[in-house]
Amino acid sequence: MKKSKILIIGATGSLGYHLAETSLKFCHPTFALVRDSSFSDPIKSHKLQSLSNAGITLLKGSLQDEASLIEAVKLVDVVICAVSAKQTLQQKLLIRVIKQLGSIKRFIPSEFGSDPTKAKICELEDGYNFYAPKIEIRKLVEAEGIPYTFISCNFFMKVLLPSLAQPGLKSPPKDKVTIFGDGNTKGVFMQESDVAAFTINAVDDPRALNKVLYLRPPGNVCSLNELVEIWETKIGKKLERLHVSEDELLEKIKEVEIHGLHRPYL
Ligand SMILES: NC(=O)c1ccc[n+]([C@@H]2O[C@H](COP(=O)([O-])OP(=O)(O)OC[C@H]3O[C@@H](n4cnc5c(N)ncnc54)[C@H](OP(=O)(O)O)[C@@H]3O)[C@@H](O)[C@H]2O)c1
Repeated sequence: MKKSKILIIGATGSLGYHLAETSLKFCHPTFALVRDSSFSDPIKSHKLQSLSNAGITLLKGSLQDEASLIEAVKLVDVVICAVSAKQTLQQKLLIRVIKQLGSIKRFIPSEFGSDPTKAKICELEDGYNFYAPKIEIRKLVEAEGIPYTFISCNFFMKVLLPSLAQPGLKSPPKDKVTIFGDGNTKGVFMQESDVAAFTINAVDDPRALNKVLYLRPPGNVCSLNELVEIWETKIGKKLERLHVSEDELLEKIKEVEIHGLHRPYL
């Protein structure tokens, strides 16, 4: 089967780089839309050089530059966007361009987390809702009749596993561990490289057309209690368990301001 031509937006980013690498590895003609500023950033330009050596076509442009979006979208069959969560709504112009050109076989917007329509939202007094922009983009894509796949991959391993889901820690605790709720709720923990592999495999798969693709490899599904037990076996020591109920956790979340803009979510 002929491989679709893929445009990646966000190829200098954390997930986007894996997507670009994987697209090339799976022999898709691959293009990346890159902002000018990335070429002068030492880390990002190193990534771009490496992708360029592997055969990617680099196109200058941005989500705010309509002409660059039109030129880039015209070249491909599939668009994958991997901008960060706080840039979610910046995809609106891209969606308009995809709609106008009408040639894209599959659009994968920047979602790559919990299903925003199913996630349990922590209702905050200031009305902040982490998932609202992702839901808005889903609705817009569906309303415009653009062929899509939404990737629902839950947590990247790098987010919670290094600290065993302990806020404020960078490595797992050695003495005391906080268990949230009863500790039995299952989480899904994915490597970004695996998320990229599933995503690139989905672009030409008719089963994923206009669907949410849930990534839940059975070996990646684990509760906090199970994680703590694995860690205790590894270090040969039992940890003291402190318990925080769901209500207490919600109260604590309301008191915390993370990175000024980003509120935590459940
Ligand atoms: N499930 C999880 O645990 C988890 C964790 C983290 C992220 N995510 C999700 O993964 C997705 C990607 O996040 P990330 O952390 O990988 O992002 P990131 O590392 O911050 O990278 C963002 C990329 O978007 C590019 N970009 C930003 N604004 C742009 C614009 N206006 N025009 C063109 N390109 C632009 C950046 O390019 P420059 O080089 O020009 O800055 C960069 O390449 C998001 O949907 C996020 O919510 C999920």
